[in-house]
Amino acid sequence: MKTNKTATSDWQSDMVKRSLHSVWHPCTQMQQHETVPLVAVSHGRGAWLYDADGKRYLDAISSWWVNLFGHANPRINAALKDQLDRLEHAMLAGFTHEPVVQLSEQLAARTGNVLGHCFYASDGASAVEIALKMSFHAWRNAGYGDKQEFVCLKGSYHGETLGALAVTDVALFRDAYGPLLRQAHVVAAPDARGARDGESAADVAHRAAASLEKLLQQRASHIAAVIIEPLVQCATGMAMHDPLYLSEVRALCDRYKVHLIFDEIAVGCGRTGTFFASEQATEKGTEEGATAQPIWPDFLCLSKGISGGYLPLSLVMTRDSIYQAFYDHDVRRGFLHSHSYTGNPLACRAALATLAIFDEDDVLNANRVRAQRMTAALAPLAQHPKVRHFRQRGMIWAFDAAIDNSAAAAKFSQRFFSSALEHELLLRPIGKTVYLMPPFILDDEEIDLLAARTAAVFESVIAHD
Ligand SMILES: Cc1ncc(COP(=O)(O)O)c(C=O)c1O
Repeated sequence: MKTNKTATSDWQSDMVKRSLHSVWHPCTQMQQHETVPLVAVSHGRGAWLYDADGKRYLDAISSWWVNLFGHANPRINAALKDQLDRLEHAMLAGFTHEPVVQLSEQLAARTGNVLGHCFYASDGASAVEIALKMSFHAWRNAGYGDKQEFVCLKGSYHGETLGALAVTDVALFRDAYGPLLRQAHVVAAPDARGARDGESAADVAHRAAASLEKLLQQRASHIAAVIIEPLVQCATGMAMHDPLYLSEVRALCDRYKVHLIFDEIAVGCGRTGTFFASEQATEKGTEEGATAQPIWPDFLCLSKGISGGYLPLSLVMTRDSIYQAFYDHDVRRGFLHSHSYTGNPLACRAALATLAIFDEDDVLNANRVRAQRMTAALAPLAQHPKVRHFRQRGMIWAFDAAIDNSAAAAKFSQRFFSSALEHELLLRPIGKTVYLMPPFILDDEEIDLLAARTAAVFESVIAHD
């Protein structure tokens, strides 16, 4: 027994040492690992990640918002094993295969076939690149070559490749690369926390839409598209807004002939309570008594959860009218964009297994019950005198820590992360914003454990300041 323990601990420290020697970890100032431990994961099961010593961590942020149905999910595993023996990969230019066809059909059906065509890539940022390029090119093909500019929101995050970074407004990620980036228009965000005295979230939304309209009045003939993270701007700190904003922007984009891109990379796949966040916004001006119709963007980017958190898969869904703008005898009017692993069959099969779980387990309704329990379990923490703007949408919870001291604020996230690990939780606040984005499989016991320990971690970290 002792020997085993020593062996696994040796494995643990050996893995960390070798990783720090040879792996350049993402989004990390590597020097910080001189003081902050790196965790070597040996396996995952359900909502938990384990190290080789058997120490466990509840993956309360779904491993960067990707995992929906737990680690080593038996149904997704079975689908992948079956697919492995059929076809691991084939190029998608000139060839096609069943998983990509089925996935495209099933996703289109979930939009009532409004977004009838799917273009595939791998990571989220590549889907954003595709949507931006497609929008520009569609306008050019239609004779509007001057439409070359993009609009994004204050605090927006759309990924870190150069095109995506150009429509990202997070200084920490973008400032070092400023000279390489094409300037985008940055307009007011509808963040409900910005409500002035007496204002509702809908008022903030309306105010933000009005400021977008001002820009469109002046520049619409040069603007190709507005890109938005619908309902929750995650990376800036889980900034949530009223769905009215999306309805108003849809109407503005129609009026001023500008494309609307919804980046649902983080918020799609049930995360906000509906399969697509877009479904929570309804068409403006619906007649009284008539059934309100959801609005749809011109381009919808999906990634992260679509493969259940198993494999890199991203895609852009778009309308038939956009598709038709490229359909021509002239090859140069086609969308000549590709990635080697476009539409990878394994990734598509993981996505099909993921969609099947949504239907078979009635996941969206089950999450409503789960979310109610989680919100109730977090109620004492929401009342904490140092908690500000407690908020929730679907399966996302967030609040801001009230810390005035700037030195303490700078260290808050790191301290919280380290303390959370000691409490068997994987939680990584964004600045002073603590958030939970767990997989959709937590049982009652795990919900209560997560809420109680998040409160304990917060108490221990805030007590320092
Ligand atoms: C809204 C949004 N868009 C794009 C991306 C980029 O996705 P990826 O990291 O897979 O490139 C992210 C990643 O967090 C995101 O949250």
